[in-house]
Amino acid sequence: MLQGKKIVLAITGSIAAYKSIYLVRLLVKAGAEVKVVVTPAAKDFVSTLTLSTLSRNPVLVDLFDEQSWTNHVMLGRWADVMVIAPLSCNTLAKMANGQCDNLLLATYLSATCPVVVAPAMDEDMWHHPATKENLKKLESFGNKIIPVEKGDLASGLHGEGRMAEPEQILDFITTNFFLTRPLEGKKAIVTAGPTYEPIDPVRFIGNNSSGKMGLAIAKELHHRGAEVTLIMGPSQLDITANGITVVKVKTADEMYRATNDAFQQTDIAVMAAAVADYSPIEQVKEKIKKKEETLTIELTKTKDILKSLGEKKRAGQVLVGFALETNNEKHYAMEKLQRKNADMIILNSLNDSGAGFGHDTNKITIFEKSGQEFAFETKLKNEVAKDIVDTIIRLYYA
Ligand code: CTP
Repeated sequence: MLQGKKIVLAITGSIAAYKSIYLVRLLVKAGAEVKVVVTPAAKDFVSTLTLSTLSRNPVLVDLFDEQSWTNHVMLGRWADVMVIAPLSCNTLAKMANGQCDNLLLATYLSATCPVVVAPAMDEDMWHHPATKENLKKLESFGNKIIPVEKGDLASGLHGEGRMAEPEQILDFITTNFFLTRPLEGKKAIVTAGPTYEPIDPVRFIGNNSSGKMGLAIAKELHHRGAEVTLIMGPSQLDITANGITVVKVKTADEMYRATNDAFQQTDIAVMAAAVADYSPIEQVKEKIKKKEETLTIELTKTKDILKSLGEKKRAGQVLVGFALETNNEKHYAMEKLQRKNADMIILNSLNDSGAGFGHDTNKITIFEKSGQEFAFETKLKNEVAKDIVDTIIRLYYA
């Protein structure tokens, strides 16, 4: 993903510096060459030995010592991106005012590459007008700011000021600087999560789908430039602030309508939702009281959303479905591909450990209508989403 990219990771004195150790790992794992520069204060929070081991490069601290002088100009010119994470209040103020009393600041001032900062501070400091002013100044210099998060703070308080998580910082860097956007101008819809089919005012038929896989696909399509609408069944996931339009639905019928309404203008539709196949024929108006020993609820088939889109699909529209199977996996996946007139079916088998509902990982095989088959290893759902979107781009938009 970041193969061959050169990144200067600058770390300032903040408790959040511990997260930067993991960030180094993520950047190196993504293929980047990483050089770490720290302020003298940062050394109180993280070990330079750990950072140099993980980055496979010496950690730079001082502008000069008795023997040598560090060429900060070359460092800023070497990098494709300079990331300052965590950015403390103190370093922020110095950057905003062009001060230069350490190597990190000298590198910042002489950097010709884009600069990204991930601030970390206590909530009151974060809200102070001086901080806001300083951040505005950085923005006016063209620096990019990764928003802080809300949560537990080092002070013991709870509020805004936490540094973004390393995964998000990696995501931000990749999306903003290194990702090509082959889906620019394309529209996509993704269904995700379960549906709830009401039995009475307090009960429903649902399933264990978390919506993670669909959300990850929606984010990845968005990262590659598509305008994405996520049609989401009931879910605990935080689906705000992703640059994605979210339509929340409950029942299979609501999902059917929302998806069909949007399909006409859609280039890519990925049906990742675990839609209930059956729904109670009637929703009882009052809560069902327990009386008899047995209770029968009559169910009727829900409308198959994927199939309905397959019936109206135009040339050029890409339709992707999922198949979650326990046996005869390939046979059922191929059968769904044809019956629902999809372009791709993504199979996850419950026989693979780490695949399916609730897990953070998934293992997929993609079946394409031309007969091609692509098998992937077990991976985190975010990585699986990348494989799926890469395959869509390679087959239909390359
Ligand atoms: N799907 C859908 N609408 C439904 C049921 C399923 O759009 N009412 C979609 C799912 O989002 C998934 C694909 O169809 O992309 C496969 O779902 P699945 O329930 O496995 O397919 P079925 O055709 O219902 O087959 P079966 O339950 O017999 O496995």
